[in-house]
Amino acid sequence: MDSPSRSGVFQSSTDARLEAFAESISFDKRLYRQDIRGSIAHAEMLQNVGLISGNDFTKIRDTLRQIETEIEAGDFPIRLELEDIHMHIESVLIDRIGDVGRKLHTARSRNDQVSTDARMWIREQLDHVSALLEELQKAFLGRCEGDFDVILPAYTHLQRAQPVLAPHYWLAYIEKFQRDRDRLADCRRRVNECPLGVAAVAGTTLPIDRQQTAKALDFAGVTANSLDTSSDRDFIIESAFVLSMIASHLSGWAEEWILWSTVEFGFIKMPHQFCTGSSIMPQKVNPDTLELTRGKSARVMGNLQTLMLLVKNLPLAYNRDLQEDKPPLFDSFDTVTAMLELAVPIVAGSELQRQRIASRIEEGYLDATTLMEWLIKKGIPQRTAHHAVGAIVGAAMDKGVPLAELTVSEMQQHAPEVDESILESLGTQNAVSAFVSYGSTAPDEVRQQIKRWQQRLA
Ligand code: ARG
Repeated sequence: MDSPSRSGVFQSSTDARLEAFAESISFDKRLYRQDIRGSIAHAEMLQNVGLISGNDFTKIRDTLRQIETEIEAGDFPIRLELEDIHMHIESVLIDRIGDVGRKLHTARSRNDQVSTDARMWIREQLDHVSALLEELQKAFLGRCEGDFDVILPAYTHLQRAQPVLAPHYWLAYIEKFQRDRDRLADCRRRVNECPLGVAAVAGTTLPIDRQQTAKALDFAGVTANSLDTSSDRDFIIESAFVLSMIASHLSGWAEEWILWSTVEFGFIKMPHQFCTGSSIMPQKVNPDTLELTRGKSARVMGNLQTLMLLVKNLPLAYNRDLQEDKPPLFDSFDTVTAMLELAVPIVAGSELQRQRIASRIEEGYLDATTLMEWLIKKGIPQRTAHHAVGAIVGAAMDKGVPLAELTVSEMQQHAPEVDESILESLGTQNAVSAFVSYGSTAPDEVRQQIKRWQQRLA
């Protein structure tokens, strides 16, 4: 049988190779719920404006609901010639209720229908991803109090830089994921406009009520220009971007914890149910979940590229190219969702290796900047203090000791202003306590930030 979209103008049927090439049912079938919901709202509007009768509407609605149940039960034959989920559902409807079913597509095109369905699907997914991000934030937040006594090295250039409280790390990720959630919410505002009624490209001569369908489908409003709407995939690309940003944050975190779980770092132990073994080396406990999180983030970023390239040369308005938007879109949501579902228990269930961390925390001169700032507080110009402390660190390195184990007179050789009271600022514990600025790792600051997030995520 030929596609219902082939009107009387065609003089031959479709080549089977085209059918196989052009089908999207294999992937857009997951839009069936949105499609049915959109069609019921559309039919109800058609009834309200008098384009179809009340009886027609009831028949259409009830049959669509029946079809939905059948799809849910896996009882729905696929026919490639019907191209996509929209035509599949409509053609079953017509098989069942004949001419009444033939009225459903009044004042509608698949162009506005596809965009409506995609927007409804994305809206749900954005909310789901945001909820998972919140769980992840809570997993980090849940660690903060228990890990408050642990000091970790902060790194720049992956070289030991300054000491920070472990919860300062956890709060850093909470901030990143909050920005992601803000981006999701912002993206959602643009997703949440209803295209239905734009029809193919120019609107319709029929007296439809677009506000009504928009409201029935929980959209915040309707899109304003039919040409723009028919071509618009910004909302899909934006979603793919926000997902790429999330994937990038997850990938960076994964990389960090992969390093932290090595013998060389020895900072963290991950729950064994999320690690894998080696078929030859019996001692191995590998962080495959994190490696795949890092690896799969490439797919998510690739999907964003695919989508950008897909639209960049398209003239207004709908072009069939746009059908190719769905595989990357679905894949990005699926991949990021799976990453987040695993990140939550890993963050919650990992253990800091306190003894190992503490045994090496005085290595790397994490308190050198504290010493420099101590001198600045004594009135020494920053550049002078920076140079002098560099020389003091050099002396400590020669002796193979941390700064706190130099004598005061050894330090005075490079900075005569140093006196006994410097000892209260040296060592990582003292160095952490010396911080005062907003947003720093000062224990009071970190406590405040934990409290702020506890209230915000409550
Ligand atoms: N399967 C198509 C898609 O997802 C449906 C739209 C087809 N529209 C058209 N004018 N041929 O884009």
